[in-house]
Amino acid sequence: MIKKETAARETEAVSIQWFPGHMTRTKRQMEKCIRLVDAVAEIVDARVPVSSRNPVLHKLIQGKPRVILMNKSDMADPEETKRWLQRYRDQGTPAIAVDCRSGKGLNSFVPLVREVLRDRIAVWESKGMVGRTIRVMVVGIPNVGKSSLINKLCRGGKAAVADRPGVTRENRWFSIGKGFELLDTPGVLWPKFEDKLVGEHLAFTGAVKDEVVDTETLASRLLETLVEVAPHALCERYRLEESSLSEKPGYELLETIGKNRGMLMAGGVVNTERAAAAVLDEFRSAKLGRITLEQVEE
Ligand code: G4P
Repeated sequence: MIKKETAARETEAVSIQWFPGHMTRTKRQMEKCIRLVDAVAEIVDARVPVSSRNPVLHKLIQGKPRVILMNKSDMADPEETKRWLQRYRDQGTPAIAVDCRSGKGLNSFVPLVREVLRDRIAVWESKGMVGRTIRVMVVGIPNVGKSSLINKLCRGGKAAVADRPGVTRENRWFSIGKGFELLDTPGVLWPKFEDKLVGEHLAFTGAVKDEVVDTETLASRLLETLVEVAPHALCERYRLEESSLSEKPGYELLETIGKNRGMLMAGGVVNTERAAAAVLDEFRSAKLGRITLEQVEE
């Protein structure tokens, strides 16, 4: 559960029923794939570390060693990311912050996986399997950066490994050198959005496509969330008065932003649809700065 930040506000949380792809099939496919790998690399979005994790993944991976990659860390608050990394490590899961667009942090990936598999590697070596290929399954929600990770680790051209059991069009192996292979999975990972805020946070970051949500309501809710987690950045970007921020419902903030930006229609009416698109786009491209929407709870 995510803490509700905006209890006293007027805009209702956006209800999102979004089922990315065929989950039963994916679940079955993942259960099959898990037998083919030595470890799992779970990618989460560093801006929404709770919402971007799949609640049933631990069941699917059946106790396989796992590492967490906090991706898009270039857009998240670095201090929050540090706290999350510590939390994962305290819970016994090694984790690193990465930026799969630039490749930052990815040098630590192979050593991290080797470290979690240290005992297993020692057993292989004792049985004469020195330099045995290590196979890792990459999982994560849509848009979290799975393809970017694989592309970066393959250094440009995707080096697909073709003739391997269990290879389908949607699930392929990639050799990244150093005796490592990655298994790409479709990464479609939800039972349902039980917590409205999960769906909403994923819509804020763009993991859920805008076609399934009302963008003006979504932008209003995003503004209310930003009042709680990043009021200074919000005021600076949109020339808002910080003192009046907390009383205003998100839709009013949206109107003010539209007005300040000169987004007016005939008769001086603010074009809130345009303002909503601008707010969502600017948040998603980190124009308001590096913001983490979900903090580690004490
Ligand atoms: P997926 O396979 O998990 O679905 O995700 P994918 O790699 O396609 O990444 C989804 C989007 O997120 C892409 O942007 C990608 O460039 C971006 N992305 C991935 N990792 C990072 C990161 O660490 N930092 C930032 N800032 N962005 C990242 P796109 O707009 O869909 O494509 P493009 O603009 O890169 O062409």
